[in-house]
Amino acid sequence: MNLFSGFYKLSPEERLERLEELKLIDSVKKVTLPEELAMTMSENYLFNFELPLGVAVNFNVNDKQYVVPMVIEEPSVVAAASNAAKILRSFTGVFPKRELIGQIIITDISDSDRMIDRLNQHKEYLLEQARSVNLSMIKRGGGPKDIFFDQYQGAVSLYLTYDSCDAMGANAINTTLEHLTSYVESLIDSPVLMAILSNYNPDATVKVTSQVSFNDLGSNSEAGFELAKRIVAASEYAKLDPYRAVTHNKGIMNGIDALLLATGNDFRAVEAACHAFASREGSYQGLSNWSLDLTGQQLVGHLELPINLATLGGTIGVNPTAQWSLDLLGRPSAKELSILACSVGLASNFAALKALVSEGIQRGHMSLQSRVLAAQAGAIGEEIDDLSRQLNQSGQINRQQAYHLLNKMRRKEM
Ligand code: MEV
Repeated sequence: MNLFSGFYKLSPEERLERLEELKLIDSVKKVTLPEELAMTMSENYLFNFELPLGVAVNFNVNDKQYVVPMVIEEPSVVAAASNAAKILRSFTGVFPKRELIGQIIITDISDSDRMIDRLNQHKEYLLEQARSVNLSMIKRGGGPKDIFFDQYQGAVSLYLTYDSCDAMGANAINTTLEHLTSYVESLIDSPVLMAILSNYNPDATVKVTSQVSFNDLGSNSEAGFELAKRIVAASEYAKLDPYRAVTHNKGIMNGIDALLLATGNDFRAVEAACHAFASREGSYQGLSNWSLDLTGQQLVGHLELPINLATLGGTIGVNPTAQWSLDLLGRPSAKELSILACSVGLASNFAALKALVSEGIQRGHMSLQSRVLAAQAGAIGEEIDDLSRQLNQSGQINRQQAYHLLNKMRRKEM
């Protein structure tokens, strides 16, 4: 039995009650960000900007069920992710090496090779200095791991890899890099230009796979096969044309960003890293790969991303809504959360491609949009659902029609 069938028809209060009954949350109390905390997160604070938090259901990732919190203002994203997860049934993911990377950059060098040789000779000494900075991280099994070098036209970069355990680790690695700067400068005769973490680590990627049989994809196996071929064509085309690739990847990030926001993660860092990864072959390409498995009679999707989420540190620990989301997810590790985010990205991409190569996205989009239009036209309470239903039935989902139908509804009730 699907524990979430009809979930979308409930009121927010009833949905919270259902989650409480399922022991996924402790209380039905809605969580907000108190002013005194918000004030510590921003300067010149005035008030909180609000966005809706919804949950996507049906996610089974590495044999674990998740109800996924998503913060997003685009009405179709949560429903599309839930629906895709239902069709795809399960996701398998790995994140073999979760690690941060930071760099110390030295410019205006006459002999880069010589400088790298000298720094390399003192690599163990530099690592020792780096490890003296955050002893609690070392105690938890994390901290600086390795140092390597590269050069770019008369500039040298020292890269430090760092295990931040489940934390974001931005402060930890930046403090370590800044501490290391004076030791680097003492070994060379050039000043350091800067020391900063990199949001890009293409060697530490999450890989997620999912599949759906042709039979489950369409009304029958032939219809499913035809649809699968069109989804594959869409994924192949997104490798060729950056205009399409950007929109294709935006569809992936719809799901990922929504989960990042809900869990207090730094979505700007993840966005920047994913787009750099999309360009790693010299042109900007779609990030997902959909292919046909003719032996298994199924459509197979893969998504690999350099994402590195956190469950501790930064403002995650203090933001009560992020804490609520992590509780709902069963307190995942940073690796587990990263694999889940990649799965949500693959589901969002599947939903978008499936709609685009069949009926188009406008039908689904507009029927959800009708609730927004209803509210914009001034409908309140139960009127919103009534008006949204009437808008969908009328086939004219626009603001003028919303005003017209709302007036008609109200006149009838008088
Ligand atoms: C809309 O938010 C996302 C899509 O445009 C993604 C895509 O085109 O693949 C539907």
